[in-house]
Amino acid sequence: MSKYYITTPIYYVNDVPHIGHAYTTIAADVLARYHRLKGEKVFFLTGTDEHGQKIADAAAKAGKKPKDFVDGLIPSFKDAWKLLNISYDHFIRTTDDHHQKAVLEIIKLCEKNGDIYLGEYEGLYCKGCERYYLERDLVDGKCPMHLTAPIHMKEESYFFKLGKYQDKLLEFYKANPGFLSPSYRAEEIINRVKEDLKDLSVSRTNLSWGIPFPVGTGHVTYVWFDALTNYISGIGWPQDMKKFNQLWPADCHLIAKDISWFHEVIWPAMLMSAGIELPKKVFVHGFLTVEGQKMSKSLGNFITPQELVGRFGVDPTRYFLLSYIPFGQDGDFSEAQLVTRVNGEIADAYGNLLSRVATLVEKNFQGQWPASGKFTELENDIEKAANELESQVDKSLAGLEFNKALEQILGFLRAVNKYMTETQPWKITDKDRLGTVLYTVLEGLRVGTNYLAPFIPATTENAAKQLGQKISLEHAKFDRDTKGVVKKGEVLQKKLEAKKQDSPFAKLNLRVAHVVTAAPHPDADKLLVLKINLGNEERTLCAGLKAFYKPEELVGKHIVVVSNLKPAKLRGIVSQGMLLAADKNGVVKVLEAPGAEPGAPVTLPGVKPNTQEITIDDVMAIKLTTRMKKTVFDGQQLVTPTGDVVVDIEDGATIR
Ligand code: MSP
Repeated sequence: MSKYYITTPIYYVNDVPHIGHAYTTIAADVLARYHRLKGEKVFFLTGTDEHGQKIADAAAKAGKKPKDFVDGLIPSFKDAWKLLNISYDHFIRTTDDHHQKAVLEIIKLCEKNGDIYLGEYEGLYCKGCERYYLERDLVDGKCPMHLTAPIHMKEESYFFKLGKYQDKLLEFYKANPGFLSPSYRAEEIINRVKEDLKDLSVSRTNLSWGIPFPVGTGHVTYVWFDALTNYISGIGWPQDMKKFNQLWPADCHLIAKDISWFHEVIWPAMLMSAGIELPKKVFVHGFLTVEGQKMSKSLGNFITPQELVGRFGVDPTRYFLLSYIPFGQDGDFSEAQLVTRVNGEIADAYGNLLSRVATLVEKNFQGQWPASGKFTELENDIEKAANELESQVDKSLAGLEFNKALEQILGFLRAVNKYMTETQPWKITDKDRLGTVLYTVLEGLRVGTNYLAPFIPATTENAAKQLGQKISLEHAKFDRDTKGVVKKGEVLQKKLEAKKQDSPFAKLNLRVAHVVTAAPHPDADKLLVLKINLGNEERTLCAGLKAFYKPEELVGKHIVVVSNLKPAKLRGIVSQGMLLAADKNGVVKVLEAPGAEPGAPVTLPGVKPNTQEITIDDVMAIKLTTRMKKTVFDGQQLVTPTGDVVVDIEDGATIR
């Protein structure tokens, strides 16, 4: 029996998961399910990355011990994966005992091979990435991923002789062209390796939250050396070599482009040093973006899987994420597209077809699958198209072209729809001919259901039940003697409705801003001038708050601003946006979003922020108010990705 070992990155547990994490995990799940349905021995590993500076900082911020902090977040990952029907075989945590032992073991092997030495490191470190950057890799002095300035660090450190593996890595890439996938991303890595491969600092002394480095004393293992090892510790290395040998090398490490260097350069070099075989493939996919920006915890613009599933359901979410965006490329998340595709494809082309044929089979054949009878050219065409799916989908999924595979499956289902429209079974009086037509549609649906099963498992389970069949891809061909009982059941996919964007609120683009400085306006009695940080940009605002706040009271607050307001000059100073404050009986208080990151969107559930510029009249026309120290529009509460917008004022205040 052939095996298939697939992994996702292990996600940082500094916060709850968002649909960017779900994207990779769903893709891995589709592959795992596909190979399982083909009868292969599959192992699907996911988990969490729990050590390092970033987690230590997040725990400190939450006032918790790191282990308690991460323990508290694990359910949010496991629940999200359960909600999304993710069929992983093992969930690894880097705080697991067996993993920690494996990390010590791999470092010892590297050391034995002469690849670990003591030195000193000085450089610019980004905590978000948990890595050092060279000056030239920064954009405007900031980390290109997190748009924050790295910190200067200097420390004694153990190093891994990464540089030693330059030629070996280049030889390996050449001999294994499938390793760096997709191929159009390979060149960038190859060029960087050719250019310069510096030794890697693999221990820290100024951090205690990690696995003690097994060489010397007082050092903690670099979080990436720790994390990458999960791919082998998660399948038993080194204590259960039987299991390990059955599954290793990994068939595919699935990641996004933010971490390709670690997986395509550092990880293979570590394995070479430890004398372990290399994985077969690292597949790098693009980013899911929201309004053109990478969705991320640090940028605060993320959507949680719970939000999407709550609004649209599990299978529509799974289906949409993989059908809409070509997997290797970046793509913007769009609710309108989700609704259109799910309605046209799952509800109509698939669900409606099943419902129509089931009605006819129940009516004319008491629910029994009719005999296939005599095929004409029309039936032969459907049979042929069904039988072509196997090689088409195999090829698409081998290249992780999920959207292409779905186009092929949908293309086939559309052909079956067309066949039904053309043959008009509801008008056929000859029972044998009617049987043949209904059989062909049923068998087409059976084949289509099997191929859709990895993508939309619950919906296809429902369909298979109605068709009286079991899902499998071990035998994927169109048969002429399938038997079973059709029993019409619950609609496969209800039509989804897009949230209306015609609410006046939809004109706004509200964002959380961190007040950096505040000072009186030099030429206006009532105004304060604020410098604010919106995550990826700084702006100046003028606000009529002088009578209500001392400037220093505002500094450090996370306020809410209308970020798409046309800039206006107020007594010589250009105000780029407007902050929101509530006003009741002469008391004025600014709106606050204490837990949210600068730049995070402030929205009403389901209403997308507007990207067009608006005028002050537009803003004045929107009636926001307060209720129980929260802010509301039309009875609905304003939210950030991490919580509510609050204001310490009586109910019914006017907000502007
Ligand atoms: N802990 C490391 C990985 C260690 S693996 C040995 C890490 N964690 S992470 O939580 O930041 O997750 C990064 C991964 O999450 C990306 O490589 C990608 O798989 C997924 N994604 C996170 N944000 C994403 C998008 N906006 N879009 C697509 N994938 C996203 O890095």
